Amino acid sequence: MTTTETTTLPGIRPADQARVVARVLLPAVAEGLVQRRSSVMALAERLRADRAAVDTLRELRERYGRGPLGLRVAGRSLALLLDPDDLARVLSESPEPFTPAVLEKRRALEQFQPHGSLISVGPERRERRRVNELALETERPLHDIAPAAVRRIREEALTVRKRAEATGLTWDVFAAGWWRSVRRLVLGDAARADRRITDSLAGLRTAANWSLLRPTRRRTRADFLRRLRRYAAQAGDDTLVGRLHGLDVAPGTDPVGQVPHWLFAFDAAGAATLRTLALLTGHPGRLAKSRAEFAGADLSRPHPLRYLRACVLDAVRLWPTTPLLLRESTLDTVWRGALVPAGTAFVAHTPYFHRVEVAGPYGDEFEPEIWLDGRAERDPALAPFSAGPARCPGENLVLLTASTWLAALLEDHSYRLDSPVRPRVGEPIPATLNHFPLRFTAQAGSALV
Ligand code: HEM
Repeated sequence: MTTTETTTLPGIRPADQARVVARVLLPAVAEGLVQRRSSVMALAERLRADRAAVDTLRELRERYGRGPLGLRVAGRSLALLLDPDDLARVLSESPEPFTPAVLEKRRALEQFQPHGSLISVGPERRERRRVNELALETERPLHDIAPAAVRRIREEALTVRKRAEATGLTWDVFAAGWWRSVRRLVLGDAARADRRITDSLAGLRTAANWSLLRPTRRRTRADFLRRLRRYAAQAGDDTLVGRLHGLDVAPGTDPVGQVPHWLFAFDAAGAATLRTLALLTGHPGRLAKSRAEFAGADLSRPHPLRYLRACVLDAVRLWPTTPLLLRESTLDTVWRGALVPAGTAFVAHTPYFHRVEVAGPYGDEFEPEIWLDGRAERDPALAPFSAGPARCPGENLVLLTASTWLAALLEDHSYRLDSPVRPRVGEPIPATLNHFPLRFTAQAGSALV
């Protein structure tokens, strides 16, 4: 098709464009695309900002049709996706002609992972993606390191559980144990107490939130990468970084350079784990099903824990940790007769897709069963771990880690959510659940269920 046979994308009225910026794009950026900001998340929860974003896009779809809609923001051409089939197309045709290495993402992630696969292109990206898939064992529900990982996770989770019985379970109590377990399974037991490495990464991620506006913190980054490489050199093969040893890779691939993304992304997995616990405390039937799944099992060994994994998947569906999926077209593309020039940024707001565009009545409900009975698989609107060739290669590992943590916390213990926002059965699940102020009463036995 030539340009003379095509139109441009349907645009929207300036007032609607301003609403998309104010209600959809800015809140997602302000909450922190790379490192969540607790103060802004608290505000977003109070103002019901995510609900406003989802409603704005629902209304645009009713008025303008299925899109994509053309927008111009800060000198950049955007194509706003509103239709699940369009989302599926963009994700399945990554990295060419829809590259994940979008300029803003590149500038942000370069702060701490200059050689990460997500911001690489061409043969380098292919090789780095391959390294990730090999080390993370993308297709396997139970990674080769699962026995050691489960042992480490369980030790840390039982310490957290004990502390929680005395003080309550808060994000801070949980996160301290979570990060100890992450450092151990990624870098090895020697890194267990090395908060400096994960704290300096958090600092780099905060800078990354500012994307184009902040210069790279070269000294902090160099220090972080030096420490990382030291652990990598010593790590055993029962750690993730140890799985990189001996891989046959093309020059310039930098396998260890993939690890910052792993550490960074485990933060989202921690938030998803605690949110899943919040969902389960408000859904007693599903909590009982989760408990039944591991009743009588020896939890010091790896188990598939399919139901708990489905619960985590549904928590990430309800509160996506990647609220904006971004791609940039490397070629001109045609959408329903409209020509979209190369260099356009395609934007998908995942909370909108996961709540409004879903193929069943589960948009605002906690419905883990969809991940077990084929409904989620058939639903192109669902992409909590993205989809297609740039889909998250760590998904199975996240589900192993999160389900192992949840089983350890729940075994012979019960929790009551005391913080004000409580997702409960029979009520629409709130569009925002700020994980930072979550607070649970914890006790041995099942009295609090
Ligand atoms: C709840 C936890 C997580 C969620 C929801 C998640 C989700 C995602 C999503 C949506 C993407 C695509 C991003 C984009 O297209 O811009 C992605 C990419 C990626 N994720 Fe995850 N992720 C999680 C945790 C992890 C963990 C723990 C690891 C590693 C141990 C990991 C490794 C990666 C890598 C390497 C990529 C880049 C893939 C590529 O370049 O093709 N993720 N993840």
